[in-house]
Amino acid sequence: MPIDVAARVMANRPLSNDYNVLALAAPAIASLAMPGQFVMLKPGAGADPLLRRPFSVFEILRDADGSATGLTILSKRIGASTSLLYDARQGQRVDCLGPLGRPFTIVDPPSDAWMVAGGVGLAPFATLAQSLRARGVRSTLFYGARRSAELFYLDFFRHLDVELVLTTEDGSLGERGRVVAPLERRLAALTRSTAVMLYACGPDGMLAATARTAMAYSRPCEVSVERIMGCGLGGCYSCVVPMRGEDGAFHHVRSCLAGPVLRGDQIRWE
Ligand SMILES: Cc1cc2nc3c(=O)[nH]c(=O)nc-3n(C[C@H](O)[C@H](O)[C@H](O)COP(=O)(O)OP(=O)(O)OC[C@H]3O[C@@H](n4cnc5c(N)ncnc54)[C@H](O)[C@@H]3O)c2cc1C
Ligand code: FES
Repeated sequence: MPIDVAARVMANRPLSNDYNVLALAAPAIASLAMPGQFVMLKPGAGADPLLRRPFSVFEILRDADGSATGLTILSKRIGASTSLLYDARQGQRVDCLGPLGRPFTIVDPPSDAWMVAGGVGLAPFATLAQSLRARGVRSTLFYGARRSAELFYLDFFRHLDVELVLTTEDGSLGERGRVVAPLERRLAALTRSTAVMLYACGPDGMLAATARTAMAYSRPCEVSVERIMGCGLGGCYSCVVPMRGEDGAFHHVRSCLAGPVLRGDQIRWE
């Protein structure tokens, strides 16, 4: 069962004019959260915005004994709720419901793990990278953004021995262009005997391109989809995704329950 708390803001760190990392005192939720799961947040006390918004659990905060004290979210400001989260002050309360949704399937060696992140789609990969490292899985992060100033937490991943493959649209860091280009080259060069699992999170176009590329090279791929979510609990059907069922036909599934992590080869990409 998800837990609902009025979580105190422990810290709010701006990373840029649009991105911030917000730390929330929600230890019960943090101690249960698995990589890829999300929380529904409502930062304001009033009716605007009325509904909670979904955010991936970014980091689990722990005390010296290793007990969870809270969680962070990596937020990109695009509207009403994310603006309130950007401006949130220490001590303020944020309604926090979670953990929600289906997490990533974490592979074991000898499989490698390749994470593919676009922009704020980096969020679910901090905890995934930690879990992969704990299992001794060799990991690579393909991470793309518009410009170098929007590539965050690189040292965090380096400290986990994650290989970084960076791209920017303006060429200011890493390869110029989209992140799927180096991904495809690496897949083409990989020997058949090397097992690899792909995990992707980011804009729909990037997810579709990653899923299609994985299918072209017959590699398993899980994607974390970002649909608009009214409730996060299966009640409103705002978050549906067309998926191939066991009967071979496409059915709409609620991504807040069946996802947000879904098999890329079962989604009907528009
Ligand atoms: C499972 C899941 C995990 C997510 N994790 C994160 C995260 O870690 N960090 C983060 O910054 N964001 C994340 N998002 C997206 C986040 O929920 C939206 O950015 C947020 O709901 C916007 O709220 P708002 O009130 O600021 O914007 P609104 O005022 O509600 O919307 C502003 C504009 O953005 C559009 N929009 C809103 N939500 C989405 C969406 N999901 N996809 C495309 N367009 C949208 C609206 O249609 C509108 O045009 C996640 C979404 C999902 C479903
Ligand atoms: S968000 Fe309401 S059913 Fe999925």
